[in-house]
Amino acid sequence: MMKSAVKRIGVLTSGGDAPGMNAAVRAVYRAAVNFGIDCLGIYRGWNGLINSDVRRLDQNSVSHIINRGGTILYSARSKEFMTEEGQKKAVATCKLFGIEGIVAIGGDGTFRGAMALSKYGIPVIGIPGTIDNDISCTGYTIGFDTAANTAIECIDKLRDTMQSHERCSVVEVMGRNAGYLANYVGIACGATAVLVPEETIDYERDVIEKIRAARLNGFTHYMIVVAEGAASAMEVAEKIKEGTGLDPRVTVLGHIQRGGSPTARDRVTATRMGYYAVKCLAEGKANRVVCVQSGDVIDVDIQEALNMTKTLYPLDAETLHAMTGIDS
Ligand code: F6P
Repeated sequence: MMKSAVKRIGVLTSGGDAPGMNAAVRAVYRAAVNFGIDCLGIYRGWNGLINSDVRRLDQNSVSHIINRGGTILYSARSKEFMTEEGQKKAVATCKLFGIEGIVAIGGDGTFRGAMALSKYGIPVIGIPGTIDNDISCTGYTIGFDTAANTAIECIDKLRDTMQSHERCSVVEVMGRNAGYLANYVGIACGATAVLVPEETIDYERDVIEKIRAARLNGFTHYMIVVAEGAASAMEVAEKIKEGTGLDPRVTVLGHIQRGGSPTARDRVTATRMGYYAVKCLAEGKANRVVCVQSGDVIDVDIQEALNMTKTLYPLDAETLHAMTGIDS
């Protein structure tokens, strides 16, 4: 076994939970054992570090969680951690418990917290865990696949009843300021139109024309997918009513997209990333984000990761344009 640069680490989950976070926590614990490192669970995100909400993990605490949604460590968005006072309390907790490194699982807010802590000399390795897939340095974030499949299952069900009643459905999908989830789900569901925040909306061109085209092709029900960051489903439904005379039904999928048992992709990616994060700490690396790029697991500087902006895959945007406004 290689000699580890750290003897004791902590793991936390922060921000919006995502299916697969538990698999990542389990992997962090097991990898730590493998490297001869003690592993503590930090509860309720960065708040746990401020409030010394820290407990030692053991084999039992991470058993049979690979298949469970949510996070056994709980999650939170900590305002206090954004203050110098909060950060100093967190550093004191690290000193108290002998925590020499942290694995932080979450989204960009979590990584901003990690950056703050790194100024005090505590190495942090970030693992991207968010259903939004909006972290620019990585092609994939844990939870995306499960959330997409959940949304797809719901939309397929909606389609049955929309088809029977020859209706138009407007479905609002999560994703915060990113259209990744909506774009992916829209392609998978054969949506009539998809609206994403990365593109300026022209209702006539992007929705009404597509419904008309589908209508001309003989179709009598329409599925419109909208990313929450692009517009509200209610607003889109109003525009459709004005432009076509249809009376659309609105569904906001909401937090249901964040729950459920993680898919194989999320379990395996989480496990790979969890192992890799601990390996980074064992090798003395600090302030990195674990990423997947072209199928490889790599690490990039946190600051660099936060500076990059993510755009939709050009091919996805192109594909979507070619696929919509034809049938349903
Ligand atoms: O970042 C994950 C996410 O689910 C976003 O898609 C969504 O905008 C947000 O979190 C919702 O946050 P909350 O759980 O605080 O309502």
